[in-house]
Amino acid sequence: MADNAKLILEGKEYEIPVVVGSENEKALEISKLRSQTGHITLDSGFVNTGSTTSAITYLDGEQGILRYRGIPIEQLAKNSSFVETSYLLIYGHLPTKDQLANFSHLLNMHSMIHEDMKHFFDGYPATAHPMAILSSMVCSLSAYYPESLNVFESFDSQAPRLLSKLRTIAAFSYKKSVGHPMMYPQNHLSYCANFLQMMFAVPAEPFEADEDIVKALNILLILHADHEQNCSTSTVRLVGSSQANMYASVSAGILALWGPLHGGANQAVIEMLEDLQNSGTSCKKFISSVKDKDSKSKLMGFGHRVYKSYDPRAKILKEMTDLILSKRGVNDPLLDLAKEMEETALSDSYFVERNLYPNVDFYSGLLYKAMGIPVNMFTVMFAIGRLPGWIAHWKEMMDDPQTKIGRPRQIYTGETARDYVHIDQRK
Ligand code: SDX
Repeated sequence: MADNAKLILEGKEYEIPVVVGSENEKALEISKLRSQTGHITLDSGFVNTGSTTSAITYLDGEQGILRYRGIPIEQLAKNSSFVETSYLLIYGHLPTKDQLANFSHLLNMHSMIHEDMKHFFDGYPATAHPMAILSSMVCSLSAYYPESLNVFESFDSQAPRLLSKLRTIAAFSYKKSVGHPMMYPQNHLSYCANFLQMMFAVPAEPFEADEDIVKALNILLILHADHEQNCSTSTVRLVGSSQANMYASVSAGILALWGPLHGGANQAVIEMLEDLQNSGTSCKKFISSVKDKDSKSKLMGFGHRVYKSYDPRAKILKEMTDLILSKRGVNDPLLDLAKEMEETALSDSYFVERNLYPNVDFYSGLLYKAMGIPVNMFTVMFAIGRLPGWIAHWKEMMDDPQTKIGRPRQIYTGETARDYVHIDQRK
């Protein structure tokens, strides 16, 4: 603990405790502020407000540092697998060989969805956005696993069940959109190879996932696996704080992620680049429109609430995109356009003064595109990656005896008290 802060309010002095985290982050602990002073704090978008303490992920936005359970993202991307990193996030330590084997076995045991759930897809139009399907299918899983409604039961089977079934539901929603038969999981394959098989195999042809693509997909999912109290993770925690079950909480997180300001940005980046390519608009001209507040246009994939330096994930993704495209002999003009856009923005004072750099979404879409994944599946890929983070935060919150139901206050600015007026008297 550090020395208390002092607050002088309306002539009275108050002591505010200061909380210090393991990376020396400091916070004013204001749980008694209203009862002591009659005041609350107001902080639109929670720019300066912490909702919880957490031991899962550490970000340093100024230094561009990202660590899962203390391990730097660069080391995990280089050495780990998505399954191993999921275990690390959820259980707090890297698994032993036996723990990893058991976790992988559970993922395999839960890779299928109930045959009745396949009929849900019949009701969706082929044009349905897969994020709408994903969220409703995840919430509907609770109908097939009633034991999950008791949030303190069977976490160790629920977590791998959801991690495995989300991947299957995602692949099935893609098959539905292209009118192909759904491909069942093949449990002899790794998590990522199995996903690619369910996505791209067809009954008439043999399928072998490209090793480079499997490796790239593992890294993509690792990079997306957690990011502390972002919008969708905060949604999962808020919904779960009412003791709603894991499927309901994650289903809400999927919908929060869908927004173009959050996980939907990877789809918006590609659509932005394609619009520029098709209209022949130069990067310089587009950047000028972005700087014009009346234009309401944003450089999608740029800027971040926490990173005020280059997003470490974007750095890895940019290098990976170059590698994968050159290895596959693909020359995607959108990659050159993205690099030109980055260069133009980072040499413009508007972006430099506001510390606006590429974030995780700026290059990820180009990689998904190179893998043959359609644009409207990009945010689904983000959700598959972020799921272990959502599960880890849901569990951390459920296990914390200090957890209270999330219920923010407000400052009312509407009409003061007035009487009802009968309709005949209204003007
Ligand atoms: C993700 O939180 C997380 O950790 C999220 C995430 C995760 O892993 O979970 O990292 C994933 O969501 C990444 C972000 C993806 N979204 C986008 O790429 C959409 C474009 N970016 C912006 O909408 C914006 O940068 C946000 C939403 C990401 C952050 O918004 P903030 O923190 O509320 O910042 P702000 O809107 O207050 O911006 C500060 C200034 C403003 O200008 P001024 O009022 O100072 O004149 O910067 C400007 C903004 O207009 N600005 C941009 C901009 N982002 C901020 N101007 C043009 N283009 C942009 N992209």
